[in-house]
Amino acid sequence: FKIPTPKNEPVKAYRKGSPERASLKAELARLKGQELEIPMIIGGKEVRTGNLVSIHPPHELKHTLGHYHKGGAKEVNMAIDAALAARSSWENTPWQERAAVFLRAAELLAGPYRDRMNAATMLAQSKNVFQAEIDAACEMVDFFRFNAAYLEQVYSDQPNSAAGIWNRLEHRPLEGFVFAVTPFNFTSICANLCAAPAQMGNVVVWKPSDTQIYSAKVIMDLFMEAGLPAGVVNMVFADGPVAGEVCFKHPELSGLHFTGSTKTFQYMWKTIGENIHNYRSYPRIVGETGGKDYVLAYKDAKADQVATALLRGAFEYQGQKCSAASRAYIPQSLWPAVEEKLVADLKTVKMGTVEDFSNFVNAVIDERAYDKITAYIEQAKKDEGAEIIAGGNHSKEEGYFIEPTVIVVKDPHYVTMKEELFGPVMTIFVYEDEELDATIEALDTASPYALTGAIFATDRLVINELIEKLRHTAGNFYVNDKPTGAVVGQQPFGGGRASGTNDKAGSYLNLLRWVSPRTIKETF
Ligand code: SER
Repeated sequence: FKIPTPKNEPVKAYRKGSPERASLKAELARLKGQELEIPMIIGGKEVRTGNLVSIHPPHELKHTLGHYHKGGAKEVNMAIDAALAARSSWENTPWQERAAVFLRAAELLAGPYRDRMNAATMLAQSKNVFQAEIDAACEMVDFFRFNAAYLEQVYSDQPNSAAGIWNRLEHRPLEGFVFAVTPFNFTSICANLCAAPAQMGNVVVWKPSDTQIYSAKVIMDLFMEAGLPAGVVNMVFADGPVAGEVCFKHPELSGLHFTGSTKTFQYMWKTIGENIHNYRSYPRIVGETGGKDYVLAYKDAKADQVATALLRGAFEYQGQKCSAASRAYIPQSLWPAVEEKLVADLKTVKMGTVEDFSNFVNAVIDERAYDKITAYIEQAKKDEGAEIIAGGNHSKEEGYFIEPTVIVVKDPHYVTMKEELFGPVMTIFVYEDEELDATIEALDTASPYALTGAIFATDRLVINELIEKLRHTAGNFYVNDKPTGAVVGQQPFGGGRASGTNDKAGSYLNLLRWVSPRTIKETF
């Protein structure tokens, strides 16, 4: 067997007058014209509690997209039971057939599901058309296609054998169930946190974020239409601590696949530690958490390139990417040119709903995020040593809108140079050209995170030196490019330090975490 050679799904442009634009617009209108009722999916069956919670677009709060049935401990237990009931048959399904389910999901998503997945992501997560397309369509298709090829790579890793014996590795799935806890910001990541373990033969209890449930439903429909057997992935809606309480106490917990905040991840790890004597096996803990991702320019960098990287890196999807450029270090000699272009370009950026495709910026995800981010902005307005040079306005009347905001600070340890805001705010420290080493030191020590980082420089020796000196500051490191937008199959994604376990999403390294190989030596 040879799995089809994966290719990255081409990004569609949705240009004015194109058929793809007309078709996506029609889907947006269709979804807006109905109020969906979203049940949990447990053991392949729809589960309703009648405890309905409504879903509104973050950019249009008075509109209602639908309602989901909220569950509790009972439904989480049902999901675990359904997963465990499906385990034996799924584990014994030939890996080629498991791969085929996800290859089929890839083709369904590249074709008939594309508009629905994009439109759901745009409306409920307030993503513009380009950001939805690269996530909910292309990245998700890529995860499914590339993981199938990586699966083959993992399974074909076999030991040597001397004459008369046969050594082999049996890549067994983990014994138990995997708990997938997923974020709101990338629909593709949500799908992959379930799909990667499932593809390796595991069964999954999935708790999506409350703010992603609208597109989570589309993912479940896609999985089922692609032929994923009932019970392999079980989608349950419950408060995080409630779901955690049930899953972390369960003796059959075999893994946690998480993307979300550092604080939540540390709490989960601790809880797993407290329960460690109860489990049959040590649970695999795989987490991708926060970031305080940086851009560092050297004095010979191209100012235009730096300014564009800052704008796109910091403000695409309202800065709600764990990879978003949220702090920058720019040399004094380069700053006037960078500032001029950045401020001028920001003036051309439009903010509003997702249905107007010319809006670059939409709303932040919810009121909690809005309140948190705007508190930092208001504080910066008062602080001496912090100057807002662009944006700073915000309103939550119609939706959670925050202007792309640039703060320039005098202290490289100012609070917004250190803490993750997860919003459209970038802080810039302008350093003296000859203070590069001290700046690197400040960059390295200001925050506990190490997810992504970007350097801009022309001199080869300087590039080499920065790569070396910044070795532990980022798991995804970019030279002369923005620190966001890792592509599956090209830049395996993940970081270290407080940013996670660095188990590289979109690579065979991640898939290795979902198998527990048995070594078999047979003597003839
Ligand atoms: N993979 C995304 C990026 O690189 C973040 O999750 O931007």
